[in-house]
Amino acid sequence: MKRVAVVTSGGDAPGMNAAVRAVVRTGIAQGLAVYGVQHGYEGLIGGQLKRLGPRDVGGMIGHGGTFLGTTRCEQMKTASGQAAAVRQLQEHEIDALIVIGGNGSQAGSLALAQRGVRVVGVASTIDNDLPGSEPSIGATTAMDIALEAIDRLRVTASAHRRAFLVEVMGRASGQIALITGITGGAEAIVTPESDLAPESVAKQIHEAYDRGKRHAIVVVAEGAKYNAERMAAYFDQHAQHLGFDLRVTKLGHVQRGGVPGVFDRLLATRLGAAAVEYLRACEHGILVGLVEGKVGTTPLEKVVRETKSLDEQLLGLSRVLAT
Ligand code: F6P
Repeated sequence: MKRVAVVTSGGDAPGMNAAVRAVVRTGIAQGLAVYGVQHGYEGLIGGQLKRLGPRDVGGMIGHGGTFLGTTRCEQMKTASGQAAAVRQLQEHEIDALIVIGGNGSQAGSLALAQRGVRVVGVASTIDNDLPGSEPSIGATTAMDIALEAIDRLRVTASAHRRAFLVEVMGRASGQIALITGITGGAEAIVTPESDLAPESVAKQIHEAYDRGKRHAIVVVAEGAKYNAERMAAYFDQHAQHLGFDLRVTKLGHVQRGGVPGVFDRLLATRLGAAAVEYLRACEHGILVGLVEGKVGTTPLEKVVRETKSLDEQLLGLSRVLAT
């Protein structure tokens, strides 16, 4: 193996740059030529590959986003797009590819692996919904950002004895909502996996006030049936009977663009370096992630087939702690 390419794909996550840096520097230290693919799978299909040296990744450990660029690439879901990607890798004489990204990106990794490409995935998504890594790169930094916002909202909620609804990201997963809800001391947490109807949320808020609380914070995942928009609309329509109005804050992309924290920098560095090591040991068709606290691997087929569920114990604990 002489030439390795690295691509960042899908939603950016804080720590992606640190992972690329680790791939580049570890690869070069082991005598490999490392190429960076620009603009995600779109750039791969378009042949936008550039050789990277150690100085190209200087300072990158502390930068959020991805300096390589990224895209959501519909073409990569098609047979012709995948075939074009394989052709580009062959034309550039790339022996192996490292894909840093989440669910959609690793589905692309599997498709390429099934076409004979030596691929290693690196688990990276703020959603923390990728089977094969607990957590994934970017998740803890994104959760810290959401948590800071929740803490600030509680201060003003308390001053006014108000109820606040905070919507966090996570696509179809409630991982961010559950963790930030617990650590932010939320009175109610609404996730796609454990949905709560507006009437139940209202009951929990009323009970919190009855217990003497000066505020009520509801953390809702964007993928919940009653996300911020629908929950707010329901509360508006039934304001009289529910008894209070709900202030809504949707955090959105602000959660994604942060500076990676110490945990994500180290995790990304370890996973990026490990991806190179696994390739050198002729192991591919795998995702590199944190498995039971250690760097480990999961077959891409399993990663793509399975769904990561919420921790039932944490879910139960969140209900007890909200009292
Ligand atoms: O997967 C990361 C994520 O931030 C999700 O939480 C969110 O639903 C989605 O990406 C938003 O995607 P986009 O930036 O393409 O709108």
